Amino acid sequence: MAEKPAESSDILVSTPRDGVLLITLNRPKVLNALRSKLIGEVRAELERAAEDEAVRAVVVTGNERAFAAGADITEMKDKSAVEVLTDTRLAAWQAIGGFPKPIIAAVNGYCLGGGCELAMSMDIIVAGEDARFGQPEINLGIIPGAGGTQRLSRNVGKSLAMKMVLSGEMMRARDALAAGLIAEVVPPELTVERALELAALIATKPPIAVRLAKASVAQSYELPLQQALDYERKAFALCFATEDRLEGVSAFIEKRKPSFKGR
Ligand code: CAA
Repeated sequence: MAEKPAESSDILVSTPRDGVLLITLNRPKVLNALRSKLIGEVRAELERAAEDEAVRAVVVTGNERAFAAGADITEMKDKSAVEVLTDTRLAAWQAIGGFPKPIIAAVNGYCLGGGCELAMSMDIIVAGEDARFGQPEINLGIIPGAGGTQRLSRNVGKSLAMKMVLSGEMMRARDALAAGLIAEVVPPELTVERALELAALIATKPPIAVRLAKASVAQSYELPLQQALDYERKAFALCFATEDRLEGVSAFIEKRKPSFKGR
């Protein structure tokens, strides 16, 4: 995919192809350490993508050495507690987690600390065999601060989450797959290709149903079961108000491919 630098160089952004936008974290010299500028740029790009009808899914990747090795430790070094609490990046993390379209993390190499938290805030993680996941904040005298203690335990269960958060040990891609942290493991040279392929497939699906399906699965991590089931039922009913539902059902009966419009 052709890439052009965004307004600033912490990320590269492709022109959407097959409905898919590719965002590449681009601080290779520091293993894509997530300084506030980078997080802000990802947020801004996703806000644009949310509005852009040409974008139906997004892939976020790093490079072969690292998806991201965590928050930028040099930037974090001199921060006071008040500065951390009032940091604008908190809002940026929330905005990224609330992106309404499907978003896939394509992970090679290190995926640590804030990098692991960033990947976990996305919908699907596809990883290369060489990927390493971890929450090593404990080694710095801090704890994960962008969802690591919460999303990790929901994703892999208490015992493994405790092990990772308390020991700082990294987990290999195959183990992350077995634990349910990620969806697929592929040879490292195919990680981005596979993530793009998956995103392009999702981009062919009816956009409103995709959005509702994503929101509904996401609610399963937020709500008690009965409330989440109620949310699902209402989202399901809402699909029946779309033109795409008529198109999907008609295409099935007429034995042709559906053409979804997002209406
Ligand atoms: N912040 C800033 N710089 C970083 C960085 C980070 N998180 N991770 C790596 N770098 C820099 C290194 O300082 C080094 O820079 P120089 O070449 O200028 O020295 C460069 O990236 C390459 O790193 P290494 O030489 O250390 O590479 P390595 O292969 O020997 O080790 C590593 C790789 C094990 C990932 C190691 O770099 C490391 O442990 N990094 C820190 C990981 C970490 O602690 N992440 C958590 C950060 S805190 C956080 O994320 C808080 C939160 O929840 C939001």
